[in-house]
Amino acid sequence: MRMPVIAANWKMYKTIDEANTFLSEFVPRVSNVSYAEIIISPPFLALPTVCKTCQSTRISVAGQNIHWASDGASTGEISAKMLRAVGANHVIIGHSERRRLFGESDGVIAKKVRAAIGENLKPILCIGETLEEQESGKALEVLQRQLENSLTSFTSAELTNLVVAYEPIWAIGTGHTATPDHAQSAHAYIRECLSILVGVQTSAECRIIYGGSVKPVNAKEILSQPDVDGALVGGASLNPESFEEIITGTQP
Ligand code: PGA
Repeated sequence: MRMPVIAANWKMYKTIDEANTFLSEFVPRVSNVSYAEIIISPPFLALPTVCKTCQSTRISVAGQNIHWASDGASTGEISAKMLRAVGANHVIIGHSERRRLFGESDGVIAKKVRAAIGENLKPILCIGETLEEQESGKALEVLQRQLENSLTSFTSAELTNLVVAYEPIWAIGTGHTATPDHAQSAHAYIRECLSILVGVQTSAECRIIYGGSVKPVNAKEILSQPDVDGALVGGASLNPESFEEIITGTQP
């Protein structure tokens, strides 16, 4: 039985004060939730305060990115070791905004997955196709290539805590959510690819979550699909009420 993961991706939103205001409303609202793992991914500067507040709750904390080295001359970067030291236990890797805006390749993403595992940070690996790839019938090929290029050098044991986030780029921040059928067939395909890459058991246990315009109004239907094990939520996670609605509204 895979425990659902509902993760907030705050992107470049919320100052430290705004993060604290969010938590003071949100934490009491979800204090009784035990059916799903809740993760918040704040901007780096808000990580210490979010980690501190969430320490005594069931909420886990993720970074939104890492560098692949543990330290070194890399101006402006943050390492897995630093995230771990501040109290984060997950990290988002390969978000499409990082791929598109910062030129991150599958090779770089593979190195970041390696760095995360080396520091016992659980990777949330994002994959997904563009609208053009979707329209030209290449979506599944893209998903397979992204998985293969990022995960081939790992053993099944190393990937026990892997979470894969399927985020079709055409659905991110656009309001065009994938239909539940579309999400299910993509997730089933991802699981099939994973079973070849990491073995049947690790693939069966891997949480594959959906991201792309998840809102309180559509979350339940998408998350009720058999291979959809949760959600990565951007815009709708910025408001404590709507993020809570997604969490409580998808409880079976
Ligand atoms: P969205 O973002 O929910 O605002 O579409 C999701 C994401 O980019 O992770």
